[in-house]
Formats: sequence, structure tokens, C-alpha cells
Amino acid sequence: MPKIKKKNISKKYKKIKVAIKKIKIEPAAKVFKVSKTTPQVLRGFKDILPGEQKYWDLLRTKAEQIVQDFGYERIDFPLLEETSLFIRAVGKETDIIEKEMFSFEDRSGDQVSLRPEGTAQVARAYINHGMLNLPQPVKLYYLGPMFRYDRPQSGRYRQFNQFGFEALGEMHPVLDAQIIIMTYNFFKELGLKISLQINSIGCLNCRKEYKVQLLNYYKTQKADLCEDCKIRLGKNPLRLLDCKEEKCQAVSEDAPQIVDWLCEDCKNHFVRVLEFLDDLEIPYNLNSRLVRGLDYYTKTVFEVWPGPGTPREAGQGETEGEEKKAQIALGGGGRYDNLIELLGGRPTPAVGASLGLERIILKIKEANLEMPLIQKADIFVAQLGETPKRKAMALYETLRQEGFKIAEAFSKDGLKNQLEIANKLDVKYTLILGQKELSEGTILLRDMEGGVQETINYNKIIKELKKRLEK
Ligand code: HAM
Repeated sequence: MPKIKKKNISKKYKKIKVAIKKIKIEPAAKVFKVSKTTPQVLRGFKDILPGEQKYWDLLRTKAEQIVQDFGYERIDFPLLEETSLFIRAVGKETDIIEKEMFSFEDRSGDQVSLRPEGTAQVARAYINHGMLNLPQPVKLYYLGPMFRYDRPQSGRYRQFNQFGFEALGEMHPVLDAQIIIMTYNFFKELGLKISLQINSIGCLNCRKEYKVQLLNYYKTQKADLCEDCKIRLGKNPLRLLDCKEEKCQAVSEDAPQIVDWLCEDCKNHFVRVLEFLDDLEIPYNLNSRLVRGLDYYTKTVFEVWPGPGTPREAGQGETEGEEKKAQIALGGGGRYDNLIELLGGRPTPAVGASLGLERIILKIKEANLEMPLIQKADIFVAQLGETPKRKAMALYETLRQEGFKIAEAFSKDGLKNQLEIANKLDVKYTLILGQKELSEGTILLRDMEGGVQETINYNKIIKELKKRLEK
């Protein structure tokens, strides 16, 4: 190899420095071709319209209520992180890292990614903020969008929302059980039928021996595997077990089961988790093929599938093509005792789960579940003319502060128009303020059911409304 002289290096370095200086950061409009057609939402992304918000409100409220009852506190993370966080945490050879990350170089040349999941962030934050000095376990929950460049289809988006909850700092199996119980309660209280799939994938030690057994078995079946699984054989043999292809599922029927290879510690841990669930009569399905798609798991893993039974009964694999491979899990989680150490922290056991909110909303709609009524207005404030409008706006504010449920259409002028809106909103009363009422110090109170109108002293209207609405 030719020797590189120090002088040459510094020459080269100077050249690079000059070149960097010359790079101008161009404004986006100069760099990108700007389309003239009406912009559309990106494939796999969607707007959440006002009509949908009732589902989101319900899920948010219910999920927060449950986890807060168990002492979990909210944490919020950035949407963008160093790419290497996810590569290290989720695993280089997982689908998420190999094909699903939204990764790019930012303007200062740093490699960054939109977060595909939240557990890596929880672990990073635990280390960054010295949470090991807090009383353990540290119980955290988060809620927000995740990004995966998945093939979009029903229930699978490129931006989707997760509700996640994680207990860090303790190894006790009661925490695994608690995470599963909270998950189960959430679906039960929503009224959605689910089946809980549980497995233990052991620790690094017991998995080493199991992987050898698994590989030996699959090598004999190689001809019957799909192309993806043939590649997985050399990379991530555990993932062979949960391939959604029918022929691979048939092969995995006779594959060695990890539970038979668990070490004493992992076996005891798993048994105790199941005992806690049995005590609370939480139904579950032991699923020896459940391995999950992220590399950080140890010991307990679980998933929530819609409806009782197997994925086939739950609707998976019913149609041909891509749909067949659709991931239908409504949520999933497990223990990840090595993750914090892997990211540079002290050895810290942890366990958690996250729920896919879009998929849960699809199921709520399919099941036609009754949604709680959205708070409806009782009183509509109508006005006629510029000065009454100003007075009506002040009255509106007073009514709001008094706690009445109110509605208005201050940008409209005609009374007919405003009464039509009040009718549509199905309010009980409409208050009408015109020039005449203003000069007399009165206001009209219209009972919307009978259409009867009464003139009330303006100063007594709050008292009158309180009496009529029994406030
Ligand atoms: P995950 O199984 O990758 O686990 O995702 C959790 C849930 O997010 C899935 O069960 C699914 O409901 C939803 N989900 C995933 N990808 C999509 C998508 N493309 N479109 C719609 N929904 C999707 C994790 O993310 C782990 N961090 C869970 C965890 C927390 N483990 C321990 N703590």
C-alpha cells in the first residue's frame, strides 16, 4: 500500500474545507420541482377530520385513565432522532430498519430518522435524564405519531399513532403482568373482542442454544420456505416462526418450541407472569410462534389480535395478495432487559407495550360500538345588527365563563339564518339580541321546542337560564 504523506493529507483537507464552504444551501423552492396541481396527502398518510375526533378522544381518555390508575406518567419525545438510536435498539436486520425508516441527512450532515417506534426513545430518555436515580420502577406513557415506510393498506399506514406505556428499572414478573392487564382492561372497557397471544423468547443465553436447534430444523425444510424466509435463515432465524406465508406457517407447525429451551430463570419468570394473569382471570393464548419484529425483546412477549382465536379466525389471510400478509395486531409489547445497557446505560430491566390507535378505531367502527355523546350546546346566541353583535359577543363570554354549553354564528346577520343553525345544533334555547332589546335593556329567550319567545330583563338572563337548565 502506498504511504500517504502528512503534507498530502493536510492539502486534501484544505481542499475539502474550501469545497464545503462553496456548498450553498439552496432554498427548497430552487432545489425541488414545484408541482402546479392541487397538493394531495401523501400515500400512507391521512388527515384526521373533525368527524373522526370522537374516536381519538375516546381512546386517549380511556388509555390515559387506565395507565394513570397504575401510576404511569406522561412523557413526550421529539419525532426526529439520530438514526443510530433506532438501528442499535430495534436491530439492523429487522424489517423496520432494513426497509421502513424515513431516514435522511439534515442540513448539517447528521443522519436522522422519523421515529418508527417509541421504546428506543424511552430508553434513550431514561439514560439522558438520569432516571435510574428516581425511585424504580419508572413508569412512563406516551402518545403520538410514528413513521414506517410500510406498504399502505387498510390498517397499515406510513404515519400512525401509538399509545405506549413502559415500566423501567425492575425485573419483577408482576410488572409484565401489569402491562398485560392494563392492555387487556383497555380493550375490555372499550367493548372490543380481542385475543391475547403470549410467549417467552428467553434471554440471550437460552436463545443461543434454541437458535441452533431452530436452524437445524429449518435447514431440512428450506425448499418449502418463501424467498424472504430463505434469507431470514442466515440472518434472523427467530423471525421464520412468524412469517405470514401459508407454506412457512405449515413448516413452523413442527419447529422446536422456545419454551422447551428456556433456562431456569426465564422459565420461572414466565410461569409467574402467567400465574398473575390466571389470578385475575385474564384469558390468554400461549403462542410458541410469537417472536415479535424488534430485536430488543427478552423473556415475555405478547400481542393483541382482534377477535378470539388465531390470526386466520381474526381475519388475517382471508384475501389474496398483500392483504394476506397484513399485520393485524392491535398492539404488542414485552420485556427488554438489555436495551438500556445496549445504548450505553447501566443494566436496567424494562417491560412495556404499545397500541396501534388507527387499527383500534377501525375495529371500533367495524363492531359498531356506541360512542359517548359529544357535549352538545344548550344555548344559541343570535344577534341582529352591529352594536348588538358586540354586546352578544360579551354575553357569549359571560355565558362561557358561567359554564353554559353555548353556540353562535357571529359571522351571520339574518335572524332566519341563525335560527336555522340553532335548529340544526338542536339547542334548547336561543337568545336574541337586536337594536330594540338593546335600547330597552332586555333580551329575547326563545324556547326552540315550542317556538315560544319571552322578553327577559337583560340583567336577569343568567339567573333565568340557570333556573331553566337546572344548573
Ligand atoms: P410494534 O408491534 O412494532 O411494537 O407496534 C405496536 C403496534 O403499532 C402494532 O401492534 C400495530 O397496532 C401498530 N402499528 C405498527 N405498524 C403500523 C402501521 N404501519 N400502521 C398502523 N399501525 C401500526 C412496537 O412499536 C414496540 N415499541 C412496542 C413495545 C413497547 N414494546 C415494548 N414496549
